[in-house]
Amino acid sequence: QNTYNTILTIFGSTGDLTIRKLLPAIEKLLKEKLLDDKTLIIAVGRRDYTDHTYLQFVEKELKVPLDTKALEPYLNYFKLNVEAIDDYVALKAFIDERSDENTRKAYYLAVGPELLKGIATMIGTSKLVEKEDIRSSITFEKPFGSDLESAQAINQLLWTYFDEKQIYRIDHYLGKEMIQNILTVRFANKIFESAWNNHTIKNVKIYAKETDTILSRAGYYDTSGALKDMVQSHLLQMLSLIAMEVPRSYQSEDLKNEKVEVLKKLRYDRKSLVIGQYDGYQNEPNITKGSKTETFVFFKAFVDTPRFKGVPFYLMTGKALEQKESVIIIEFEETSEQHKFDLPLFTNKLYIKIAPLDGISLTLNSKVPGLRNAVEEVDLDYCVACNAVGNLPEAYEKLILDMTKHSKSLFTRWDEIELSWQFIDQVKQDIQNKQIPLRIYKSAEELYSLIETMTGEKL
Ligand code: BG6
Repeated sequence: QNTYNTILTIFGSTGDLTIRKLLPAIEKLLKEKLLDDKTLIIAVGRRDYTDHTYLQFVEKELKVPLDTKALEPYLNYFKLNVEAIDDYVALKAFIDERSDENTRKAYYLAVGPELLKGIATMIGTSKLVEKEDIRSSITFEKPFGSDLESAQAINQLLWTYFDEKQIYRIDHYLGKEMIQNILTVRFANKIFESAWNNHTIKNVKIYAKETDTILSRAGYYDTSGALKDMVQSHLLQMLSLIAMEVPRSYQSEDLKNEKVEVLKKLRYDRKSLVIGQYDGYQNEPNITKGSKTETFVFFKAFVDTPRFKGVPFYLMTGKALEQKESVIIIEFEETSEQHKFDLPLFTNKLYIKIAPLDGISLTLNSKVPGLRNAVEEVDLDYCVACNAVGNLPEAYEKLILDMTKHSKSLFTRWDEIELSWQFIDQVKQDIQNKQIPLRIYKSAEELYSLIETMTGEKL
């Protein structure tokens, strides 16, 4: 029997995430030889498939083309009942036969939160992953818990069986090209490095807007909502990277140490909180009658560090909005000379565009060419995708690659998760105690004008 350099075992192989994100990412990594020929992918599922019929099923489910032929030589389907310890023991025998002392083994739990603890326990008790084995890792998808208490319970369980070094908690936004670029833009450019503080920055907007509704995820989404689904993870991660202090180094632990400090100093302005639910949500299949789950959230937050004290951070995310756009906008203060121009002028804005098009742009005041005395706002625009050779990697390609190499920078550490849940729990409690109204919205415009009236900020 051949042994492999890397064995990646995916639990939840018939799920949406595996089919839409993980397999296409793996296919690309294999094609580009970033995963070598001695890679084995084990797709674990409860249904009765062969390797071939599993890939046929994947092909049928996928809306985008996938070269399943390229995957087939590397893929094994393994039938397993997640509650049967014997099946895990059999899986271990299967893997042991195909590995030697150098094989890196990664277990990826692409399953719903309700299965997470059960599978992790089985992986631990069957010794698929042993604490001392630095070549094994275990990866968890978000949501990591549904509040602070449940996250702590999951984490306690994980620490019983695994070492923190072996645990990978995914936030797929961290794998996105422009999120990885935040630190370069901030710290490798003098003009931004020296301007990154409350003397120069007026406000920061962090938006993740979606046109999609909840699609077929009612079961999960109705118990979650925008705060837990998007803010706890993606938005707070972006905020941490924007607001963190200079790290001692750009190594994983040093970066996380600084991100955590931001979360400790984070507070929000309760009066600015707006929550909404798109019109029609109640009629989606499998939604609890009278559900109060928010599909939109906006609030103003502050990071009480000397660097950012007093600078508002506007966070907003929602479903069924007018466009798909994830963006961070840093707005700078007026210059001390602007008032003398006696002309309408603009503030500089730095746009870090995360999706759908990756890029950076910076707006400047520039004289309108010609004899009239006028100034216009011009845009220095850099489109990352336009200049990249070939397709830009998807977030999951980067994350899977890092996982198999045991590189942890782009994965979240427990204390980041703990602090972000603490924050979200507080907001949730306020929604309940202060009876923050849930606004039913037909269009994003209704919400934006409400927020503008409340905050005086143009969104
Ligand atoms: C996921 C959320 O984490 O992120 C989804 O669970 C959301 O509800 C998605 O649609 C958005 O990610 P992206 O990469 O499309 O911006």
